[in-house]
Amino acid sequence: MLVNSNELFNAALKEGYAIPAYNVNNLEWIKFVLEACQEDNSPVILAVTPKSIQYFGGYKVVYNVVNSLISELNINIPVVLHLDHANDFDSCKKAIDAGFTSVMIDASLKTFEQNVDITNKVMDYAKKRGVNVEAELGVIKTDGYGINDRAYYSDLENSKNFVIQTGIDSFAPSIGNVHGFYKENDNLDFDLLGAICKEVKIPLVLHGGSNLDENKLKAAIFCGVVKVNFNTDLMHAWSLAVREYLKKNVDVYDPRKIILSGEDALKEVIHKKNCMIGSKNRK
Ligand code: 13P
Repeated sequence: MLVNSNELFNAALKEGYAIPAYNVNNLEWIKFVLEACQEDNSPVILAVTPKSIQYFGGYKVVYNVVNSLISELNINIPVVLHLDHANDFDSCKKAIDAGFTSVMIDASLKTFEQNVDITNKVMDYAKKRGVNVEAELGVIKTDGYGINDRAYYSDLENSKNFVIQTGIDSFAPSIGNVHGFYKENDNLDFDLLGAICKEVKIPLVLHGGSNLDENKLKAAIFCGVVKVNFNTDLMHAWSLAVREYLKKNVDVYDPRKIILSGEDALKEVIHKKNCMIGSKNRK
């Protein structure tokens, strides 16, 4: 069932766990993620970036694939369909019009005022249609270098003002977390995360959940994180398995066999993450 994330976040906040957001890149990944989370009785957020949407062939394609798979596979866990890291209003509008139940507007590379303006425009459109909005302030880097540079971290006072001025549903702060592999020692600032949580008083989202150990994920949840995003670890596990399979099966050319050869590795990562963040058996 496709749902809005509010109820999921409230339950997670109350009981001290987080909802996993897995990035999905193609039909098979949607299927694998849904099946693995159904097996775990874990609510799940399917996160799709604008680039992946282009790869799929459009917003409506993604919505229809997700909806059809939920029904054909008899999926009865709560599923959120989320637009990840859209940096303009139009992308958010298209996702909302297509039936996505949550969007992230990421105007974090713009000025504070521009970020507030564009986020408010998305909020206005989304709230009239019952869709949740996540936004980012401070820059969550993607290359893993310079992660200890405080210039990228969210500022406490600005975070508070940003949330007050926009009224967003969930907030993605930058506390030294990065997308992709950590190239330097990750130095997550949990004091800052805890302080932000106290000031903003809304659910927090941790981007860059890959290659963080269970203690760090639990510490983040303790500080108010209710959604953890995972992408790199899934892609890495899947591609290692596929590479291994192709090495051993040089004559295989059926794409279904090739894509499926990464299924178990991908699902194993999902099961582990669901346990680590406590979403297992929370349906
Ligand atoms: P990772 O690729 O580091 O897991 O980050 C995913 C993410 O935050 C997507 O928004």
